[in-house]
Amino acid sequence: MNNTKKIGVLTSGGDCSGLNATIRAVVNAATQKGWEVYGIINGTDGLTETPIQYEILTEHSFSDSPWPRLSGSYLGSLNKGVKMESLEEMSAKFGRGVKELGLDAIVVIGGDGSMNICGNYCKGAGIKMVGIPKTIDNDTPITEFSVGFNSAVQVCMDAVDSLNLTARSHHRALILEVMGRDAGHLAMHAALAGQADVCLVPEIPYKIDSIIEKLKQVKASGRNHAVIVVSEGIKNENGEHIVGAKNLIGEKVYGGIGDYLSAEINKRYTEFQTRVTRLGHVQRAGAPTAFDRTLAAVFGAKAIELLDKGETNRMVIWKDGKVSSATIEEVLKEGTTLLNPHSDYVKAAVATGMYVGEVK
Ligand code: F6P
Repeated sequence: MNNTKKIGVLTSGGDCSGLNATIRAVVNAATQKGWEVYGIINGTDGLTETPIQYEILTEHSFSDSPWPRLSGSYLGSLNKGVKMESLEEMSAKFGRGVKELGLDAIVVIGGDGSMNICGNYCKGAGIKMVGIPKTIDNDTPITEFSVGFNSAVQVCMDAVDSLNLTARSHHRALILEVMGRDAGHLAMHAALAGQADVCLVPEIPYKIDSIIEKLKQVKASGRNHAVIVVSEGIKNENGEHIVGAKNLIGEKVYGGIGDYLSAEINKRYTEFQTRVTRLGHVQRAGAPTAFDRTLAAVFGAKAIELLDKGETNRMVIWKDGKVSSATIEEVLKEGTTLLNPHSDYVKAAVATGMYVGEVK
């Protein structure tokens, strides 16, 4: 028998557009069933800190609120702050928080890292969990789409469109560096949608000479400008990542490969001036697109349906045109989903004349 009556909902990891639409969907679907919903503030921190930080959410919380239409996380989120204490310690604190609030289950809106961490905490604390995938990187295993990806693609595509116009005015080759960590989904979708000339992703090796060859072709065709999209996670020609900032636990965060490419291209080819735009965190903060809001509603409703049926320790997924779910173990076993160099997206890019690296 399923005894779910009181649930928590939290957002975990880097934010993205569509989180608030997801929170709203969870709250509304749960309150329709007469359940109580506790919004946990600042990801897992809200449950592990003393005093516990939460806000009771009801069917009225978002009925006349702008939040579900906005990016960011209404509840706040925590990115990579969790390795500071041991798993056992954090699980125990998490369990205490859950017990104090009297929660029967938790809905975790997060990426694969959060599924791992929260899955472990929940296991340790003996609490039921359902995950909802979100990330601009779109690398959450098994699901074809995560909340936030489509909105980020839109921001990047708009940037490509804008760069194309100013590139044309000044006869430049403009480089757009986008996020995505080790996955090239965001770069490839943005480049396809924006009709870029070059797209470099971590999954496909590239040659600077080939980029220059492409620029020469553009020039020979009579066009005096070009746009190059690069994923932050590509390596330089020595096989090294370019890193910028560090996160809370001292891990290096990618950033700066665009400047490297700009310098290298200019050393070997001067027909086009190059400039670099590093889009940064605006990619996580555009208006949530219709697709992401729809996905948020479908995922939120499915998460509550699963809890109601007593099917827990699962993550909702979008696969083959419909919503379903997979166990957290299956999700973690699968590992991060990278861009397949032989996917239809890459094939389309090549077929339409884009240089995407040396596809074997
Ligand atoms: O995982 C989402 C993401 O935006 C990545 O694309 C990016 O590399 C990273 O987070 C940036 O992290 P931070 O916000 O900690 O700089």
